[in-house]
Amino acid sequence: MTATESPYAVYPSLRGKVAFVTGGATGLGAEFVASLAAQGARVGFADVDDAGAGRLLDRLAGTGGPQPLYVRADVCDVAQLRSAVAAVEKGLGPISVLVNNAANDTRTDIETVDTPDWDHGIAVNLRHHFFAIQAVMAGMRGLGGGSIINLGSISAHVDFTGLPMYIAAKAAIEGLTRTMARELGPDRIRVNCVVPGWVFTERQLTHWVTPEVREKLARVQSLPDNVMPADVARMVLWLAADDSAMCTGQKWIVDGGWM
Ligand SMILES: NC(=O)c1ccc[n+]([C@@H]2O[C@H](COP(=O)([O-])OP(=O)(O)OC[C@H]3O[C@@H](n4cnc5c(N)ncnc54)[C@H](O)[C@@H]3O)[C@@H](O)[C@H]2O)c1
Repeated sequence: MTATESPYAVYPSLRGKVAFVTGGATGLGAEFVASLAAQGARVGFADVDDAGAGRLLDRLAGTGGPQPLYVRADVCDVAQLRSAVAAVEKGLGPISVLVNNAANDTRTDIETVDTPDWDHGIAVNLRHHFFAIQAVMAGMRGLGGGSIINLGSISAHVDFTGLPMYIAAKAAIEGLTRTMARELGPDRIRVNCVVPGWVFTERQLTHWVTPEVREKLARVQSLPDNVMPADVARMVLWLAADDSAMCTGQKWIVDGGWM
C-alpha cells in the first residue's frame, strides 16, 4: 500500500530522504523499512538474514515506493557496520534518518552467563547504536540536521526476567539517547528513543507468546488490543519526519498502556 492509499498520516518531509535501518530484514525493522519506503524515502537496511531481506525486497517490489537497498552487515562487527553506512551513503546519498533497531532477545539463564555471553549481549543490543550514530553524524551535519531513532524496550521498565544483557542494554540506550541528543542538538540532529511494549511480530509469536503471555498482557495492558509492528512504525515515522522538529532526547512509549 502506498502512503497516499493509507488511512494514516503522510509525511511530505520524508519524501526523497535517505533512511538507514539496522536489523531491517524481519520483524519491526522490516516494518520500518516498508513504512519509510511507502512515504517515498530511499531506504538502506543492514542485516545478517539474507533470506529475510530477500523476502522483504520481493514484497516491496512493485509497491510504488523507491526500492530499498539491502547491505549484509553484522552490527556486532563495527567495521562491517561502518562499511554498510558507507555503502548506503554511496548508493543513496547522505543519511538523514537512522533507525537503530537490530537486537537479539534470546533468553538467558543467569546461572550460566559467562563474560563472552555478556560481551556479545551488549554488542548485539547496545554497542552498535553508538557506532552507527558516529558513522552517520558527519553526513547529517552536512545536511543541516537529521533524526536518529533508537529502539528501547518496555522490558527495562516492567517485571521481566531471563534477559539480563538485553535489558541492561535497553536501559543504557535511554541514557545514550539523552547524551547524544545533547551532543548533537546544536547541529539540529535529533535523537529519540522508541520504547515498544510486547509487539506481536512473527518471531515473538513463534518463540515467546504463550497462552500465559497473552493472559498477562490482557491484565497489564490498559488497551485490549495487541501492539502490532505498524503501531510502532507510525511512531518512528513521526519522529523521522519534520513534524517532530522540536522533539529530541525523549522516550516515546508504544505499549498499549502497560501498568
Ligand atoms: N518485538 C517486541 O515485542 C519488542 C519489544 C520491545 C522492544 N523491541 C525492540 O524492537 C527492535 C526490533 O525488535 P524485533 O522484535 O523486530 O526483533 P527481531 O529479533 O524479530 O528482529 C531483529 C532483526 O535484527 C537482525 N539482527 C540480529 N542480530 C543482528 C546482527 N548481529 N547484525 C545485523 N542484524 C542483526 C535480525 O536478523 C532481525 O532481522 C529491537 O531493538 C527490540 O529490542 C521489540
